[in-house]
This record gives sequence, C-alpha cells and structure tokens, in this order.
Amino acid sequence: MDKTEYVNIIEQAPVGEPERQHYFMQELREIVMERSDKLGRPLYANVTTFGCQMNAKDSEKLLGILEAAGFTASGEETSDFVIYNTCTVRDNANQRVYGRLGYLNSLKQKNPDMIVALCGCMMQEPSVVEKIKKSYRFVDLVFGTHNIFKLAELLYRQMTERHMVVDIWNGTDEIVEKLPAERKYSFKSGVNIMYGCNNFCSYCIVPYVRGRERSRNPKDIVEEVKNLVKDGVVEVMLLGQNVNSYGKTLDPPMSFAELLKMVAAVEGLERIRFMTSHPKDLSDELIRVMRDCPKVCRHLHLPLQSGSSRILSQMNRVYGKEQYLALAEKIKTEIPDISLTTDIIVGFPGETEEDFQETLDVIRRVRYDSAFTFLYSKRTGTPAAAMEDQVPEEIMKDRFERLLKEVQRISAEMSGKDVGKVMPALVEGLDDHNPGMVTGRLSNNIMVHIPGEASDIGKIIPVKLEESRGFYYMGTRLP
Ligand code: 5AD
Ligand code: SF4
Repeated sequence: MDKTEYVNIIEQAPVGEPERQHYFMQELREIVMERSDKLGRPLYANVTTFGCQMNAKDSEKLLGILEAAGFTASGEETSDFVIYNTCTVRDNANQRVYGRLGYLNSLKQKNPDMIVALCGCMMQEPSVVEKIKKSYRFVDLVFGTHNIFKLAELLYRQMTERHMVVDIWNGTDEIVEKLPAERKYSFKSGVNIMYGCNNFCSYCIVPYVRGRERSRNPKDIVEEVKNLVKDGVVEVMLLGQNVNSYGKTLDPPMSFAELLKMVAAVEGLERIRFMTSHPKDLSDELIRVMRDCPKVCRHLHLPLQSGSSRILSQMNRVYGKEQYLALAEKIKTEIPDISLTTDIIVGFPGETEEDFQETLDVIRRVRYDSAFTFLYSKRTGTPAAAMEDQVPEEIMKDRFERLLKEVQRISAEMSGKDVGKVMPALVEGLDDHNPGMVTGRLSNNIMVHIPGEASDIGKIIPVKLEESRGFYYMGTRLP
C-alpha cells in the first residue's frame, strides 16, 4: 500500500467511538492477513501483564482488540506483536520492565518484523517515556492508561508508517463502551465499575497515572454482567481503585451498595466480589448488603497500610487506628464468617519502631486471613517522596521480615478455622501438581484442593474441608 492510500484510510475513519476503533480493527485485519499469507502462518500476539487486577482486565481488552484485528493469541514473547501492560506502583515493577525490554530487544534482532509495544501506568510518567524514546529506540508503540481503547488505531498507524508511535493522554472523561475483550477465564470475569482515584494517599502514584475518578453508568455495568452470565460466567469481580466512591459523580448519584444490589439481581450470576474498598468510606449500607446478599462473597479486602494513626495521617488515609479497628470489629460482628485481607506498607517516611509496633498490634487484633506486605517505595512526584526522614533500607527490611512472620503465623492459624465444614467451591482449574485433583475457590477466597477433572472447571460444588495446609485446604467431594 502506498502512503496516500493509508493516509486516505485514516482520513475516512468515523469520528465517533467505538465505531472508529472497529473500523481500524477491520483495516488491520487486511494488513495482518496479507502478512500472514506471506509467512504461511498466523500472526501471533502476546500481551504480558504487570500489576493489579485493573491491568489484568485492561489486558483482556487489548487481546480482544488484537484478535478482532486478525492476530492469534499466544503466551510466547517470541510473537509477532508483543505488548507489555506495565505497572508503576512500586519502583521494582518499573525495573522488571526495563530488564525484560533487554530480552525483547534480543528477540527483535532475530525477527526485525516483530512489533514491540508498551502501555499502562508506567507510560503515564513523562520521565519513563523520555527514557524509552532515548534509550529503547526499538520500541514501536507507546500509549498510556487513558487511551487503551485506541490500540487498533495506533497499531494501524505503526504498521503503515513504520516508525515509533507515541500517544500519551494526560487525562480523560471518556469511557468507551462496547469494545471486544478476550476473557482469560470462561467462568469468571472482572468488570470495571470505575476508573481512576481521587484519594491521593501521599505515597501513591495511582491518582497521577490513572487520573480522576469516573464511574461507569450502572446500566452499562448490569448489561455487561448479564452478557457475561449468558456467556457462562458465574462469578464477577467489580473493579475500582476505591469502589466505595462509586457513583458519586453520576447524575443522579448512586452508592456502591445500590450498585451491588443491582448486580446481585442478575439471574444466573452466582458470586460477586469487589476490589478495593477504602476504610475511610465503607458504609453501613454496604455491610448490610454484604450480610444480607448470599451472592456477595464472604471476603473483604480492606487495606490498612499502617497501624499508626500518626503515619496514617501523614499518608492522607483519613482514618486512624481506632477507627479502623472499630470498622473491622463491626464487619466481623455483622458477618462472622467473613475473611478479611489487607495491604500493609512498612518504612513510610518517618515511621518509628513505635509506629511499626502499632501496625503489629492491629494485625494481631484484626487477625487477617492474609495480607500483602510491601516495602515503601519512593515514587517521584508524590508528596511522600519529598518528606524528610526516609527510613534506611536495613531498618525497613528488618521490619518487613518481622511483619511477614507475624502475618504468616496468624494466617496459618486462621486458615484452619473451617476444617470439618462443608462449603461451596468454584472449581477454577486442574491442580498442576496432583493429577486427578482440581483447585477450587471458597466464597471467602481461600483455595481448596479436591478430587476432580477438567469437566468440573467452572462449576460450584459442595466440598468438605478435611485438612488445612497453611494457606489452603485439602477437601473431599460430597456424594
Ligand atoms: N510503596 C509501597 N507500596 C505501595 N502501595 C501503593 N503505593 C506504594 C508505594 N509507594 C501499595 C499499597 C496499595 C497497594 C496496591 O500497593 O499498599 O494498597
Ligand atoms: Fe493509591 Fe490511595 Fe488511591 Fe489506593 S486509594 S489507588 S492507595 S491513592
């Protein structure tokens, strides 16, 4: 195709979304088919995800677009098109991407037609994009978190213009619905309910890279869930950086608890999870809906971050130690079979041994079923990065080790609490280490290994929990 031809194709594209992207998917199909005819094999596309559930969900959208554009999905980074969907919440996530880019460069030297793309949170940092433009010239396509829906258009430009295409938006109010997505699991799916975050916890880069809070229209959410159910999904995970802020900016406004009730009313849907809840605005209404609605899973992820009120205030978390403890107590009283999990950061600037002891105190009192523990990572541009008294690395690591030990001790004790009970488990996959066994997930998010086969995957079956193995159970099936 000569240049005027593809310039015309771009000029003739519809302006509105998602029509514009469907148009580019169709145009890409032709290019992809032409290349694959020449090669005598399909063109493969690989999407590699770093980071959280939001990114995993975005990757399903990316893969859906790529398949609609004629690519064949592949797990291999030797594919014709490779995209890294990046995370930047902690610096080690960035370092991993730079490390793996070296490897991609070596692959590209063997296959010069290979297309390397980068997207996601890390690309929203101007210094990262500068570094890529300067030192990683072999990268072909770069875009951020606000315009992932534009993959087809950007890739079309890259494949026709054949130079590095960079398109980073600073923010957006736009939510583009009705684009394809390729689900990783047939029986469960994440569902975005909102994008962005307005909380500005002082250590966190997310508000800068994912922008301001925008809630999806409840009708669109319910319609997506209904379609998923028609397609065999029994469990959905409602996704948002802080689901408790859901609906505040909608007209008319609505609460997350109301949305939860609407989703629970979808016939055929068996289970609902959600992620993540900020303790500052978890309402009594939400606790009641969780308590009274059997479809809502018995699991709540409630990030603590620190047990010290002084540090929490420095973190801009808007709750104190006592408030958090009271909330955890209230939830456990209302929903006694709930499993609580959390995120904890050690080594936030100015954290003293006394502050750290407060964190240990909270984890001993709440008794989490499990906890993700993180070393504080300085993120340029966040208020905490400029704070004095950054904690020395050896102290941070020592606290981290002590925290981890305590978290593991408690979670091992907690995981035995349901031995002997019968509970429903959603069978998620074959047990890789034990032939003839499958793994299932309990409502409280804990895994159980049971006898079974591939045909059980996606079914919810009653399981007797026979024995605790620390982080999971061994179970038997009821006759
Ligand atoms: N350093 C360490 N951990 C962080 N998190 C967010 N920002 C940072 C940071 N700068 C953690 C928080 C959050 C989780 C997703 O990542 O605990 O809940
Ligand atoms: Fe980051 Fe706080 Fe927003 Fe979570 S609530 S994404 S920790 S700023």
